[in-house]
Amino acid sequence: DAPKKPVYKNLQIAESLKAQSKAKNQLLGKSQKAEKPKFKNLQIAESQKTVANGAQDDEGPNVESQKQEYRDNRPQNPLAARQKNLLEVRQSLPIWSQAANIRNALLENHVLILAGETGSGKSTQVPQFLHTSAWCTGRIAVTQPRRVAAVSLARRVAEEMGTPLGKSPQALVGYNVRFDDNVGKNNKVKFLTEGMLLQEMLRDPALVEYSCVVVDEVHERSVNVDLLLGFLRGLVTGTSEAAKKRKGKPLKVVVMSATADTEKLKDFFSEGFGEPRAEDNIPAVNDTTSLNKDDASVEKPQVPSASSSGKISTCFVEGRMYPVQTEYLSEPTRDFSEAALLQIFQIHRKEPMPGDVLVFLTGGDVITNLQQAIEDMIPNVITRDSGLPKLLVLPLYAALSQAQQQAIFSPAPPNTRKVILATNIAETSITVPGVRFVIDSGKAKIKQFRNRLGLDSLLVKDISKSSAIQRQGRAGREAAGKCIRLYTKPNFEALEKDAVPEILRCDLSSAVLTMKARGVQDVMSFPLLTRPSREAMERALLLLLQLDALNPEDGNISDLGRKIARLPLTPAHGRTIVAAADPEMGCLLPVIDIVACFNSENIFVEIKDQDANDEAREARNKLSRRQGDHLTLLSAVQAYASERTDRKQWAKQHLISHRSMQNVMDVRKQLRAQCQQAKLITKEELAAADDDLDTVSESTGNNILKCFLRGFPANVARLVPDGSYRTIQGHMAVAIHPSSVLYSRKLEAILYNEFVYTNRTYARSVSAIQMNWLEEVYAAPT
Ligand code: CDP
Repeated sequence: DAPKKPVYKNLQIAESLKAQSKAKNQLLGKSQKAEKPKFKNLQIAESQKTVANGAQDDEGPNVESQKQEYRDNRPQNPLAARQKNLLEVRQSLPIWSQAANIRNALLENHVLILAGETGSGKSTQVPQFLHTSAWCTGRIAVTQPRRVAAVSLARRVAEEMGTPLGKSPQALVGYNVRFDDNVGKNNKVKFLTEGMLLQEMLRDPALVEYSCVVVDEVHERSVNVDLLLGFLRGLVTGTSEAAKKRKGKPLKVVVMSATADTEKLKDFFSEGFGEPRAEDNIPAVNDTTSLNKDDASVEKPQVPSASSSGKISTCFVEGRMYPVQTEYLSEPTRDFSEAALLQIFQIHRKEPMPGDVLVFLTGGDVITNLQQAIEDMIPNVITRDSGLPKLLVLPLYAALSQAQQQAIFSPAPPNTRKVILATNIAETSITVPGVRFVIDSGKAKIKQFRNRLGLDSLLVKDISKSSAIQRQGRAGREAAGKCIRLYTKPNFEALEKDAVPEILRCDLSSAVLTMKARGVQDVMSFPLLTRPSREAMERALLLLLQLDALNPEDGNISDLGRKIARLPLTPAHGRTIVAAADPEMGCLLPVIDIVACFNSENIFVEIKDQDANDEAREARNKLSRRQGDHLTLLSAVQAYASERTDRKQWAKQHLISHRSMQNVMDVRKQLRAQCQQAKLITKEELAAADDDLDTVSESTGNNILKCFLRGFPANVARLVPDGSYRTIQGHMAVAIHPSSVLYSRKLEAILYNEFVYTNRTYARSVSAIQMNWLEEVYAAPT
């Protein structure tokens, strides 16, 4: 039932491309560049035609002979060669030999728990093993904790399946991540972040469009994955209210993890099926293995409870692993960036090629600085006389654009060693090919809830032992490798065994709102793999009450809460947006601009003495607003948006990151659309919004800040007589962050977006407010 038109269209495009490039090809010899689009389109057209059968009449008289020519040419077709090559790579993955097992396991069971080393092929192959199964009439969702992994996996799987990606009618693979929806009607496999699948459950709590949900990277234990497992357990066991909406249509769940911690997951699902806890009567060895073909039959007699009832199956895929030599520092280092710099050049000087280097660091800021330091050093070390190969430094962290993230997958140019500077994204989410050397700082940035402050903050912390082992393993995927730990052996021994799941260390207001919005009344008894403390749940409920997201009478979600839950934002930012949409405030669009900045990477380029001339500093200063950082961000976004000629140049002149700003504009567009869907703004109002530069009046400025105050009741501090700031809730000392336009200013009271910890507690993104606003904001009816 494929549409005929696109077939014809594709062929037409392909044919005209072919004609255009023919002469060129004759001159150049068959350049890959010229061939690619031609064959790609033709190939799609070809495969469509087999499906559409009968489209021939539309295609005109000459096409047949041209297609014959194409068929004759096919052996030289670089795309076909690539496809063959991809298939060979797939066949060499450790998971390939398990394809039949995996298919069978899901034929017979509702749940498959699949443990396997990173790089064994779980994420890319499992959806391809399953999508042709007879029971799989709907879509397959594959969830990822990180956007970058969802996008890059989708791209990879589409390529392996030989179909376009996303919205095209021929595309079998798509992805949906926050602020980027690239899903087409005919997609069979959809990669998405855990958060996006939870969002989908708002309109479709039974996930009826899916036959299978693959929950990947469960070992990361994000709050969202824990929530998702809770909802999926209800659906797959038929025990939740939503499950009835599936009307008997089966749902299969695959839970995948890089660690062999299958026991806990199995118990969790067993409990959902009403089975007794299995841990007492299952020998662990039999339980987590299903290594060969007759595994299912081995499993049944030996494992009582869940596995024997045809509900849950477990499988373990052995990874490929070459020996990795591990070295430690003899003394702890104070500066891991400096230590890394030293090690990178040491490896480059002494170690043979090929062999790329993967360095695990904490965040974008550290990565950018180290990249600069390496690039500064290159001319001194890699001189003509040294005979050393070139070095190519590639950053990899979540906030980078997709194109930049994709760069790490390309092989290094000849005579060049790649150095990838990554956050813990590269620990399990992304496999970087070519790596033989790993340098591990032993640190990661993790989200931590600060009780006294009532806030989440990102802290640089020691990683767990299992993370250190994952990082080390990245060096031995393709050949024997080496891992240098920038800490001592006793430091390693002292690391915690596993990371604490996020649900035990973050603010739970988003999680609780997620549950409430999906009809969970008693959040305390929602099935969770790890149960947070009662106090933490209660604190979240309290904050949601403060934000008017719950009804004070019965604790159920309020209409306002429902609006907040539909926005892909924290409840605090969601509440701010909803407040701004109130006609009395009338500042939704500017508030969206500011929230978009808070949900993107920093737009301000760090000013270093050497790279900022007076003119640029002055231009940047002109964007500053005396009320503080919120309105400064707004003025920067508005000025950028009003620039119609050369935004890149404008950004450069104002020391603004063009890349971050492009991202802000994307997020802004998406948020505007989502606000329209949530009926916070009408289509007409949105259409009337222009990007002409208007000055923000004093009263609008105040209203904007009052809206943020509404969303962030806990983020207020006042000046106390000793000249410092103290938070109103908790009476903690905070200082204004040096990056703020209000740095070192003494103001009656401040409102801030977040805390950062370095040597002291800083409030970042700060604005000046008046104490009498508090009463006005919180007394106002909602
Ligand atoms: O999920 P798991 O870590 O077990 O493996 P995977 O993500 O399916 O990756 C299997 C292999 O596919 C990797 O070793 C890479 O060679 C390749 N791959 C890739 O080239 N590009 C991607 N975006 C993802 C995977």
